[in-house]
Amino acid sequence: MAQLWGGRFTKETDKKVFAFNASLSFDKNLLDQDVEGSVAHAVMLEKQGILTLEEKDAIVKGLTGIREDVESGRLAFDETQEDIHSFVEAQLIRRIGEAGKKLHTGRSRNDQVALDMRLYTRAHVLDVDERLKELLRVLLKLMEENLDTYMPGFTHLQKAQPVTLAHHLGAYFEMFKRDRLRCRDIYKRMNYCPLGAGALAGTTYPLDRNYTASLLGFEGPTLNSMDSVSDRDYLIEFLAALSTVMMHLSRFCEEIILWNSNEYRFIELDDAYSTGSSIMPQKKNPDIAELIRGKTGRVYGALMALLTTMKGIPLAYDKDMQEDKELTFDAIRTVEDSLELFTGMLSTTRFNREIMEKSAINGFTNATDAADYLVKKGVPFRDAHGIIGRLVLYCLDKNTGIEALSMEELKSFSSQFEPDIYEAVSLKTCVEKRLTAGAPGRKAMEEVIRINKSYLAEEWMPGRESQSRNEESL
Ligand code: ARG
Repeated sequence: MAQLWGGRFTKETDKKVFAFNASLSFDKNLLDQDVEGSVAHAVMLEKQGILTLEEKDAIVKGLTGIREDVESGRLAFDETQEDIHSFVEAQLIRRIGEAGKKLHTGRSRNDQVALDMRLYTRAHVLDVDERLKELLRVLLKLMEENLDTYMPGFTHLQKAQPVTLAHHLGAYFEMFKRDRLRCRDIYKRMNYCPLGAGALAGTTYPLDRNYTASLLGFEGPTLNSMDSVSDRDYLIEFLAALSTVMMHLSRFCEEIILWNSNEYRFIELDDAYSTGSSIMPQKKNPDIAELIRGKTGRVYGALMALLTTMKGIPLAYDKDMQEDKELTFDAIRTVEDSLELFTGMLSTTRFNREIMEKSAINGFTNATDAADYLVKKGVPFRDAHGIIGRLVLYCLDKNTGIEALSMEELKSFSSQFEPDIYEAVSLKTCVEKRLTAGAPGRKAMEEVIRINKSYLAEEWMPGRESQSRNEESL
């Protein structure tokens, strides 16, 4: 057991206490960020005359050497160290001696860990955004290919009105687009550097916090040192955004599972994305979709856990906050993997156009249009609704559809029916006449696709946005 804080103690830490307190087994994930932050800190210390040029050079070389050695497997994490910060510092001192002991000048593990987590999360906000963008590209392509793939639209999981596959997929396009907007928004709010806040009250050394912030690609330094070491809002916001991504994926997975079932047969999942049963040879199971749906729980759990951890913590840093790591790492990995697998699964799925179209015809999805037809012929809507309701009952009894009835049969329900009813209730008419903005008709969909294409062509330049409160440099 090795510690950074032995001086004041006369007794060794109890072994179980050490193990319970230690975080190296999981915060070793932050090695890159710890090195990056320490390099920036050392460069700033030298600029401010707190380190000599030689000391700074030795520190930077030592730190990058540690990172390279861990990456290449030459250096293993030494589990006698409490956390990643202690591990790196101990290694540095072992490698470069006295200069290594000066790295921590004007810094505390509290602002160090706050920085490392922010750097880690910031990179993953971008990564999640990029994966969402990839999914949107796949969705948009499928939308363009399926502008006249007719299918039933459902409410209450009952066939309601006909739509197209492009339109149905377009609903998810909008959801994932909002997920990206949330990432952008979080990025903007979190992109301020806590380094230099010290343990909680800043430091008496003449640090240049603007300089470290700019070295690390931040918009500027955070504005309150107590808040800097104890703020985990950005993690909560990100976990909430990730939970929403999972909720969207899970809804989509649920539909994929239904559509892939023998009852629907709207789609067929690619063999590469399905699994078999150990006992039933006929089975091809949608395990990936089910797993993504299932994993939604652990991401919601991470959000709940962190909200609960943070709720009673007095200012400033308290050790409770160490609990932010495992759940954040797990949630991020879960969402990134889920997005990647989902995108692969969707882009290899085969859509059974004929079955979808047949299903749209069979379920009286044209009943509203039949009622609207009568309205156009002067029948009040409420009466038309009743007439078509009776017509549907009649069809159910005869096991047929409105479009298959004879003129004579139709006339027996309302004298207003004319031969043009057949055209009015055809699947194509029902969809193509729906041309309000955001509706499934081809013309309306083409406009949406045009807008979304130019949206996807836009490049997001993170770090270009400023937040008013920090706009003037300190
Ligand atoms: N492992 C700690 C964490 O993750 C690092 C900060 C420790 N600070 C302290 N004052 N003990 O939160």
